[in-house]
Amino acid sequence: MKGKLESLVDKNNLPAHIVIIMDGNGRWANKKNLDRISGHREGMKSVRAVVQGAKDLGVKHITLYAFSAQNWQRPKVEVNALMELLKQYLLREGDKLLENGIRLNAIGRLWELPQDVHEVLEETIEKTKDGKELTLTLALSYGGREEIIDAVKKISCEKIAPEDVNQTNFARFLYTSDLPEPDLLIRTSGEMRLSNFMLWQLAYTEIYVTKTLWPNFRKRHLIKAILNYQRRERRFGLTGDQAKKREVI
Ligand code: IPE
Ligand code: IPE
Ligand code: MG
Repeated sequence: MKGKLESLVDKNNLPAHIVIIMDGNGRWANKKNLDRISGHREGMKSVRAVVQGAKDLGVKHITLYAFSAQNWQRPKVEVNALMELLKQYLLREGDKLLENGIRLNAIGRLWELPQDVHEVLEETIEKTKDGKELTLTLALSYGGREEIIDAVKKISCEKIAPEDVNQTNFARFLYTSDLPEPDLLIRTSGEMRLSNFMLWQLAYTEIYVTKTLWPNFRKRHLIKAILNYQRRERRFGLTGDQAKKREVI
């Protein structure tokens, strides 16, 4: 049964692509006098709830910032625990993703992941590749600047004259070339920064920051973010009047 909050969602104006900076696991654990790793473990429950919630709402693309290029600099025990949790998630959830028609995708410098994690990731991507309900993209060893640098390297190997480089053909060299532009960015735990996430793609994305810590984030929080998004007026540089007319078209 659909809840009261969910019935307020305009299904004709859903964000096509929601991206989430899942932050606050450490603070959640700290508040409870637990170690940071317990916070990450608890955060996995939110991942499950939000992925299922997004699918049930009819959202087609969700991208989760799970591990940044800079997160490698954290203490080794924490990095190892995060890699282990990721592997467990993939092993445990793989079949469920498949059953639910969820296609797994990943962006970032995936080759930097430990080999066993990389293998399970590739296997799960392959196994779920026909999923049509929702594309779940995990950003792993991901950095926005790193992505732009990687794209520049790739494009410079192509036969494209410098004067022919434009936004459309450049974007084809980004990790996100097969994803729609993000409509909504959610960041949990209150920080007002991008932390090197999707620097190119977020150009006109609506930003929603909530104080809720990631391990406490559930489907109802996702719905609240979507409802907030649906009250926004997106202008893309136009005047308010122009933007309204464009919506009608
Ligand atoms: C987000 O939670 C998870 C990762 C960055 C991997 P944090 O671990 O950053 O939690 P805080 O910011 O310390 O609370
Ligand atoms: C961003 O969170 C990275 C992920 C959520 C994976 P961080 O906790 O690493 O960001 P900063 O350090 O607070 O900017
Ligand atoms: Mg953090």
